[in-house]
Amino acid sequence: MGVYMQPTKKNGKLIIKMTEFSGFYKLSVEERIARIKEYAQLSEAELIVLKNTGALKLDVANRMAENVISATHLPLGLGTNFKINGKEYVVPMAVEESSVIAAASHGAKLSLPLGFEAHADEPIMIGQVQIVGLKNAGDVAVKLESKKTEIEKIARELTKNMEMRGGGFRRFYTRAIKTERGEMLIAYFEIDVRDSMGANTINTMLEGIAPSLREYAEEGQIRLRIVSNFADKRKARARAIWKKETIGEEAIEGILDAYTFAKTDIYRATTHNKGIMNGIDALAIATGNDWRAIEAGAHAYALRSGKYQPLTHYEKNKEGNLVGMIELPIALGIVGGSINSNSIAKIALKILNVKNATELAMVAVCIGLANNFAALKALSTEGIQKGHMKLHARNLAVIVGASTDKEIDEIALALERRGTYTADCARDILKEIRLDRFFL
Ligand code: HMG
Repeated sequence: MGVYMQPTKKNGKLIIKMTEFSGFYKLSVEERIARIKEYAQLSEAELIVLKNTGALKLDVANRMAENVISATHLPLGLGTNFKINGKEYVVPMAVEESSVIAAASHGAKLSLPLGFEAHADEPIMIGQVQIVGLKNAGDVAVKLESKKTEIEKIARELTKNMEMRGGGFRRFYTRAIKTERGEMLIAYFEIDVRDSMGANTINTMLEGIAPSLREYAEEGQIRLRIVSNFADKRKARARAIWKKETIGEEAIEGILDAYTFAKTDIYRATTHNKGIMNGIDALAIATGNDWRAIEAGAHAYALRSGKYQPLTHYEKNKEGNLVGMIELPIALGIVGGSINSNSIAKIALKILNVKNATELAMVAVCIGLANNFAALKALSTEGIQKGHMKLHARNLAVIVGASTDKEIDEIALALERRGTYTADCARDILKEIRLDRFFL
């Protein structure tokens, strides 16, 4: 089966290395599950959850959202070949689009043997309280400043659970603004939320402290008390070098041209960043995180200079190799939110084997960089359709009604040979296959 290697044994103990995931995609689903069971030491109960693609039970789904009538499903795959700060990762990715997981694995493979270097900030989230109806917001800012010690004491008290985990209150400040609806004061709280995404902690704290802010302000009305998804205190960044001997000079020039295009054109920059978010969202969804928050923060960060820009940066180093870099806010948690009630997310985190949310953020940016690199390499050389559509061919076969693995394989192969990846073409091929079989 494929190029799959047997895991090695040392002193009777199973050692599974990242390189042993080479050709993982050539295995059957059963063989992949068996492999990941060994790799992540999954229990029989966890295997049952993995094999049950309708794993989200109705009563659990009903507790997660409103007006629930069912659950929708996404494939969960594994991004392979990720080496980050010297540690090897197999990365769970939930995504409906073909070729995203292949592209991430491909980009990561080409970065080896060095892999990625990554770093993430402390998990500090920002919360905002809006006070409206002020005669002079600047005066109120001064009043709140004079009560800073009291305000910080209350904020600490309200986040003492986080403090016990090593996080908690970090900073309080205000900003007075003049608007068409009068003067407003915005109070900012920075809270270290440790391994959580942080929205619940922040929102609870803000609602708790708001009455005291109103009391110290002596005027106005409290309006919004909410976390900011522009988590710019919680950024992660990564870097990788793709050697010219590995990817070729033509690919390097192509990627640099593609990157320059994205820097100068918002239509291209948006698609460039979509390609980055392909991987980051897939990881966020697999781990039960709020991917809309990540998306919102990413695009705001892309626009921070006032001009929408790519979230990655590419340059050639003096050896002529390609250096790729990425930086964006990443508010991902490994505890809290819906993670506790999402059994697949728990297994995904076990497979990922990250110690904390900061490490998860580092993995996220590496996936984003790998996806972006692979997409730009394909786009600027052979074109995206060749690899993407090759993988999409099997989807097309299923869409037009192929019902056995044999039919699906035959249609995918015939589409590839004809070089036309359309549903009409797949339908014609299916008819031909069935007709041939009929006359056999
Ligand atoms: P290839 O050169 O045929 O791959 O690329 P390969 O056969 O040499 O294999 C290399 C590695 O890729 C493998 O290593 C796998 O890790 C992985 P191995 O396991 O053999 O040691 N790989 C696969 N993994 C899973 N399933 C597979 C598979 N094939 C290879 N079937 C590939 C083929 C599709 C990877 C390449 O053409 C590629 O990276 N294309 C880019 C595809 C892409 O970016 N898709 C995203 C969707 S398009 C989009 O939404 C974004 C976009 O608009 C963004 C933008 O505009 O910037 C494009």
